[in-house]
Amino acid sequence: MSKLWGGRFAQSPEEWVDEFNASIGFDQQLVFEDLQGSVAHVTMLGECGILSAEEVHDILGGLARLKEKAESNELTYSVGNEDIHLNLEHLLIQEIGQVGGKLHTGRSRNDQVATDMHLYLKNRVEEIGVLIRSVQKAILKQAEVHVETVAPGYTHLQRAQPISFAHHLLAYFWMLERDYQRFEDSLKRIDKSPLGAGALAGTTFPIDRHRSAELLGFSSIYENSMDAVSDRDFIVEFLSNASMTIMHLSRFSEELIIWSSQEFQFIELADAFSTGSSIMPQKKNPDMAELVRGKTGRVFGHLLSLLTVLKGLPLAYNKDMQEDKEGMFDTVHTLMGSLKIFAGMIDTMHVHTDRLKKAVNEDFSNATELADYLAAKGVPFREAHEIVGKLVLVCIGQGIYLKDLPFDTLKEASPVIEEDIFQVLEPLQAVKRRESAGGTGFKQVRNQVAQAKEILQSV
Ligand code: ARG
Repeated sequence: MSKLWGGRFAQSPEEWVDEFNASIGFDQQLVFEDLQGSVAHVTMLGECGILSAEEVHDILGGLARLKEKAESNELTYSVGNEDIHLNLEHLLIQEIGQVGGKLHTGRSRNDQVATDMHLYLKNRVEEIGVLIRSVQKAILKQAEVHVETVAPGYTHLQRAQPISFAHHLLAYFWMLERDYQRFEDSLKRIDKSPLGAGALAGTTFPIDRHRSAELLGFSSIYENSMDAVSDRDFIVEFLSNASMTIMHLSRFSEELIIWSSQEFQFIELADAFSTGSSIMPQKKNPDMAELVRGKTGRVFGHLLSLLTVLKGLPLAYNKDMQEDKEGMFDTVHTLMGSLKIFAGMIDTMHVHTDRLKKAVNEDFSNATELADYLAAKGVPFREAHEIVGKLVLVCIGQGIYLKDLPFDTLKEASPVIEEDIFQVLEPLQAVKRRESAGGTGFKQVRNQVAQAKEILQSV
C-alpha cells in the first residue's frame, strides 16, 4: 500500500513494522475530535483565502459524510495508514477525490494530534466533573441522615474518639471537592489551541490561528509553536489529578471494605454492588470497592509512565509522544467507571446505626473526655492523661469500660471528679460537645451539610 508520505521512499516498511509504528488501534477513539479539528481548519483556510470556496465546500461535505459513517461505525481503518489522522485523510480522498489532499495545507499531524487531545480532554474533564458531583451528592445524602449517628473515630485504626458518622462521610465530600477544583482549574491549560503551529515552526500560509481556535471553542492559542506541538503537560496534569481522585476513592473503598466485614458490620453494601462466591454460599463480597482500590495502581502507573516518556525528549515533536495516548484513554475510562460505581454504591449503602452505637459504647474512646474533664477542673493535662491511663489499665484488668467503674474508684483517682462524670463519659455527649469550628459536634456537622449543599446547588 502506498503511504500518504511515501514520495521520498523507495521501499515501504513491512507489515509487521507498520504494526509496531501504528497507533490506529487506539487513537481511533479520537475520530470525532479529529474530524472536528479538520472542519475548523478547512473553514479557516477558506476564510483566509487559502482554499477556494468550492474546495472548502467539497472538503466539508466529505468530512460530514465521514462523520456520519463514524457514527454508524462504518469506517474501516488500516494499520498501513498508521494513525487516525492519516486514515481519515486517506478516507476523505477516497470519498471526494484529490481535492481532499488540500485539507492538510498549512497543518501538520503534530499540531493536529495535539489539537485532538486538547479537544478530547476538555470534554472528558467536564464529564468527570459531573461524575465527581454525583459522588458528592450521594455522600451528602447519607450524611444528612447520619448527623446524629454516633460512631467510633479511629487513628492508627485504633479506636480514638467518638464522632458523628456524617462527619466521617463528609471528609470524603471535601476531598472530592478539592479534586473537582483541581480538574476545573486544569481546564485553563487544556482549553488552549495548538492548531496552526504546523510541524514546529508555524507556516508560510496566511492562516488565522485565533479563528480556528474560536471555531473549536478554545479560549486561547499557544503562544509558541514549538511549545504547542511538544507540550504534554496538560495530559500529565490530567493523570495527576486523576491519580489524586482515585487515591481518594481507594481510601474510601478500603473503609467500605473494612466496614462491611463481619468484624465491623458498620455498613452493608447493596446486593446490586456486591458479588457472591463460586464456592462459599454465605459470601457477599465488596468486589466493586476492591476493584476501585485495585484500579488505582494502573492510574498511578500511567502518570509515572508519561512523566518518564517525556523526561528526556528534546523539542519539538518526537514519536515517543505517541505513547501518551493509551494511558490517557485508560485513565479516562477507569476514573469515569470508578466514579459511576461509587455514586451508586454510596447512594444505596445501608448504615447499621445500632452496630455503630454498640461499638462506640464498648470501647475507651471516651478516655479523652475524662482527661479533658480533669483538665477543665485545673488538673494539668499531662497529669490528667496519666490518671486516666491508669484507670484504663484497671478497666482492662477487670474486663470493663470507664463508665462501669464505681464512682468511688473514680473519686479516688482524682478528688475533682463529681457525679456528673457519667454524663460526660456518654459517647453522644463526647460528640455533641466538640463544637470547635470544623469539629464533629452536631451543629458543626450541620453547618458542613449546609455548605456542601450550597456547593452542589451552585452547579
Ligand atoms: N500518531 C502520532 C502520535 O500520536 C501522530 C503524530 C505523528 N507525527 C509525526 N510527525 N509522525 O503522536
